[in-house]
Amino acid sequence: MAAAGEPFLRIENISKFFGPFQAVKDVSLNVAKGEIFSLLGGSGCGKTTLLRMLAGFEEPTSGKIFLDGRDMTGVAPWDRPVHMMFQSYALFPHMSVEKNIGYGLKHEKMSAQKKASRVREMLELVQLVPYATRKPHQISGGQRQRVALARALARQPKLLLLDEPLAALDKKLRERTQFELMSIQQRTGVTFIVVTHDQEEAMTLSDRIAVMDKGEVKQIGSPGEVYEFPNSKFVADFIGSITSFPATILERQTGQLRLSVPALGGEVMARDVPGLSEGQEATLAIRPEKLLISKDRPEGANAFQGTVKDLAYFGKDSLYRVILPSGVLVQAHAVNATRGGEAARVADWDDRVWISFAPSSAIVLAE
Ligand SMILES: Nc1ncnc2c1ncn2[C@@H]1O[C@H](COP(=O)(O)OP(=O)(O)OP(=O)(O)O)[C@@H](O)[C@H]1O
Ligand SMILES: [Mg+2]
Repeated sequence: MAAAGEPFLRIENISKFFGPFQAVKDVSLNVAKGEIFSLLGGSGCGKTTLLRMLAGFEEPTSGKIFLDGRDMTGVAPWDRPVHMMFQSYALFPHMSVEKNIGYGLKHEKMSAQKKASRVREMLELVQLVPYATRKPHQISGGQRQRVALARALARQPKLLLLDEPLAALDKKLRERTQFELMSIQQRTGVTFIVVTHDQEEAMTLSDRIAVMDKGEVKQIGSPGEVYEFPNSKFVADFIGSITSFPATILERQTGQLRLSVPALGGEVMARDVPGLSEGQEATLAIRPEKLLISKDRPEGANAFQGTVKDLAYFGKDSLYRVILPSGVLVQAHAVNATRGGEAARVADWDDRVWISFAPSSAIVLAE
């Protein structure tokens, strides 16, 4: 058992080399019991390799993994309280749904009766009781995903590793299944580590996310933290869309930074970020939904005048492309809160407008 205060899973300075190629670079992270933790990153960034080391299919080149207080070095996959669910689901085509689920219990020392009741419990958990005797090809993709999940949970692992669990599903089904996955996690209390390259999926599912790039963990935080407080241009770009401009830090005041941003044609006030110094080159980044558009000059700092070049009406909101005197185009959204159709929009083609953003919405990055 993990000692009090000890994280359930502790990954300490894990690296993995395949020959001269380093697939995982000095990764350290902790996962708490009962958490849904996501590894998010593009193709080839080392997500599956990290999972395989947790499951014991691959030995780290250096570093250690502690699970529930126990050092996993040299512990075989089947001796770990871990189950890995592969992207392909790996169901047996000739076995029924219930046989597939029961397969995971084959080597468990429990009575046939106990096994049957565990399978039943799992069928109920994933709502597949009516499909128990069907074969995998006689059920839908989403149902197959649930069979794989039930099989993974049947052995009651302490840690479930899911590699792109929803990748085979279409968009609508994916969204629904995300909520099912969360509800099953809550009911079982099993700790989940989910690999995904889909940032929306990571945001929906996770308590915390590790954003990875080229074998490294760039940032770990809650969905809100990585979205609102990205620590690098990579994370800011990877999570959601963002507009960024080169900037120079002019002055640090209490809690605020004053920046020169030539693309905006002026100075910007932003929330202070530790570790930046006066005179330093930096990046100013703003989420499109934080950019406001208005006909009249708004109060306060960070207001810039421009001309509407393009606009698109989407029903629930409108998108404006505003050209600034520097020639830079910025995008701003305006929510269509009143029901006036196209006539209710803030501005028209070629109108002079103001775009503005709150100092607290301005993200300053040191690169
Ligand atoms: N057994 C291996 N031998 C050599 N290189 C490997 C091996 N396994 C993985 N790699 C390399 O390590 C890197 C990371 O691979 P990994 O499968 O962990 O990526 P991933 O983040 O899961 O990507 P994807 O999203 O495409 O599944 C890749 O460049 C891959 O080619
Ligand atoms: Mg992978």
